[in-house]
Amino acid sequence: MLENRKILLCVSGGIAVYKAVALVSKLSQAGASVKVIMTESAQQFVQPLTFQVMSRNDVYTDTFDEKDSSVIAHIDLADWADLIIVAPGTANVIGKLANGIGDDMVTTTLLAATAPIWIAPAMNVHMYDHAAVKRNLQQLHEDGIRFIEPSEGFLACGYVGKGRLEEPEKITELVKDYFTREHKLSGKKVVVTAGPTRERIDPVRFLTNFSSGKMGYAMAGAAAEMGAETILISGPVSLPVPSGVTRIQVESAEDMLKAVEAHFDTANYVVKTAAVADYRPKAIANQKMKKQEGGSTIELERTVDILKQLGQQKKNQVLIGFAAETNDVSKYAKEKLTRKNADYIIANDVSEAQAGFESDTNRVTVFGKNDFEQAFDMMPKQQLARQLFEMITDKEESYDS
Ligand code: PMT
Repeated sequence: MLENRKILLCVSGGIAVYKAVALVSKLSQAGASVKVIMTESAQQFVQPLTFQVMSRNDVYTDTFDEKDSSVIAHIDLADWADLIIVAPGTANVIGKLANGIGDDMVTTTLLAATAPIWIAPAMNVHMYDHAAVKRNLQQLHEDGIRFIEPSEGFLACGYVGKGRLEEPEKITELVKDYFTREHKLSGKKVVVTAGPTRERIDPVRFLTNFSSGKMGYAMAGAAAEMGAETILISGPVSLPVPSGVTRIQVESAEDMLKAVEAHFDTANYVVKTAAVADYRPKAIANQKMKKQEGGSTIELERTVDILKQLGQQKKNQVLIGFAAETNDVSKYAKEKLTRKNADYIIANDVSEAQAGFESDTNRVTVFGKNDFEQAFDMMPKQQLARQLFEMITDKEESYDS
């Protein structure tokens, strides 16, 4: 399954280095070409020779040990890789990368890389929980690096908790999944909307909602990962742009409509994750409105229903809407599917804890044509986004064939 795939494994120094040896073996057995770089401390646990034998390739340990004079090794390795995995990822290597420090063969290569980087952290449970480590992990997450979460269990230091390097079999499965998905959307253009809109009342006030943009940004990231040209039309949120995604920032429902329309004709998939305001103030005051005795009324008017308008215009585009509901989820989602002429409605019950607005996780049910219905478990929004695109692209392929 991993034939012709080039995987660079960066091994940093922790007791879990022995599992990295098994990982090289699993990846090689699956057909991947694997090259290994080791930090100095990794070599305290396992000799480079072990990795050399398992990978059938030279092992790199020193930035200045240039084996081939025609290339610069750390640049050459960074360019060679289709995917880079750091396993085990120690607090030290995580901290260095988060702060742009390149002082050995592993970190200089990581800084020179354009291929996706996955880090599989492994450390003591308290180290993993340390504020500095958390800060660094957050920074790397914002820089577009993906993590293979450590599992819970007995740690070599005697503690029980989160910090164990994920099992080599599981990491290999994730790598296989990644390469299977990688090209599913290549040659396709995906337009995703995300976040809230702001509808101005006066120069200092606006109407908005609780959308953080997390679900929409995850959808855009997943589309780019699967090879799509991805345009993310985003309301005002403070999230980093996922790697490979072009972001267009908008404020109001009207701005969002214009931005979506500009890309609609050339799009293959349009995903409307944004929580677009249904109403806006009929007039925007030029000056800050002064408070007065008694109540006040703002007259509202409807915004354009972008999804519905696209549903009327669509030719071959696959149109995917989201539905945020608090009750009768299935009934309202099906009604939106028909009324807005969408191909899929992804419904989330936003009254459920850890689902919908602002949370890092979500639970959804997808509704489609011919009474299609599929429920997804609660999971992180990034993982859910990948599964949603996988399901939808499979379904669309089945319609085409
Ligand atoms: O951003 P997060 O904090 O991660 O939260 C994610 C989310 C809860 C916002 C997301 O999962 C979600 O459910 N988005 C849709 C929210 C919504 O506005 O639902 P709705 O039922 O009001 O609208 C249905 C569909 O019509 C949506 O695709 C919406 O983008 C679209 N719409 C709505 C109004 C409008 N004027 N134009 C539209 O295109």
